[in-house]
Amino acid sequence: MLKSFKRWMGSGGNSGLTQSELLEEIRKHPIPEHIGIIMDGNGRWAKKRGLIRTAGHAAGMKRVRDIIRAADEIGIKVLTFYSFSTENWKRPKEEVDYLMKLPVKFLKTDLQELIDRNAKVQILGEKEKTPSFTQKALEEFEDKTKNNTGLIINFAINYGSRDEILRAIHHIIDDVKKGNIDKDDINEELMNRYLLTCGLPDPDLIIRTSGEIRISNFLLWQLAYSELFFTDTLWPDFTDILFYEAINDFQHRSRRYGAV
Ligand code: FPP
Repeated sequence: MLKSFKRWMGSGGNSGLTQSELLEEIRKHPIPEHIGIIMDGNGRWAKKRGLIRTAGHAAGMKRVRDIIRAADEIGIKVLTFYSFSTENWKRPKEEVDYLMKLPVKFLKTDLQELIDRNAKVQILGEKEKTPSFTQKALEEFEDKTKNNTGLIINFAINYGSRDEILRAIHHIIDDVKKGNIDKDDINEELMNRYLLTCGLPDPDLIIRTSGEIRISNFLLWQLAYSELFFTDTLWPDFTDILFYEAINDFQHRSRRYGAV
């Protein structure tokens, strides 16, 4: 039955397997270490229901919780949620204001559960340029979970991958000028150390919801060998079963890293 999965465009929820059957299937294969998620389709989800766009973001936040639980259940090591891009500031002010309040809400509702799960929250992106109440919530997440050793949850907020790469280049040049490193030391491994994902494995799998087939400035350096999974499902409809199906699809791909 699993062979009927579409390889490129995930069809979403039609494997016919129950959650426990899927879990059993997934546990037979290596679990991806790092999954990146481009959560897209909140606005369309709300529009379909005659709701305002921010209602879609509220529903999307609940999915973040579900997917964290589902990932933790199967021992994924790193989850990276693309939550707010450097381009998202161009949205209407009311929507940006709402999105900036989400970390504060999430802190109130979910911090304790994340602590109980031994999860460690990290922020990728320039949180210093978010409103002070957002920054405070993000710092509290990081601070209260910094010694945890379980699932690493990255929220990419005010994040753009080109910006991340440019900053890394500037830091490398500074360090060459200061004599901290030699120009000949610059290689992929060194570059990895200057990126915001320093110390983390590259994403094995990138999932994008809502039918858009693009990467939108997300982890451009890190995804060189990631498997990509695109599904028509809108983010607020992306259940744990669909998440497990995406993982199972990934587990049936052949990763060759350029070799034969
Ligand atoms: C894209 O959908 C989604 C976003 C820009 C925001 C995603 C954020 C969350 C789901 C919540 C994150 C939670 C925390 C705690 C940080 P869209 O609005 O572009 O959808 P559309 O393409 O249908 O308009």
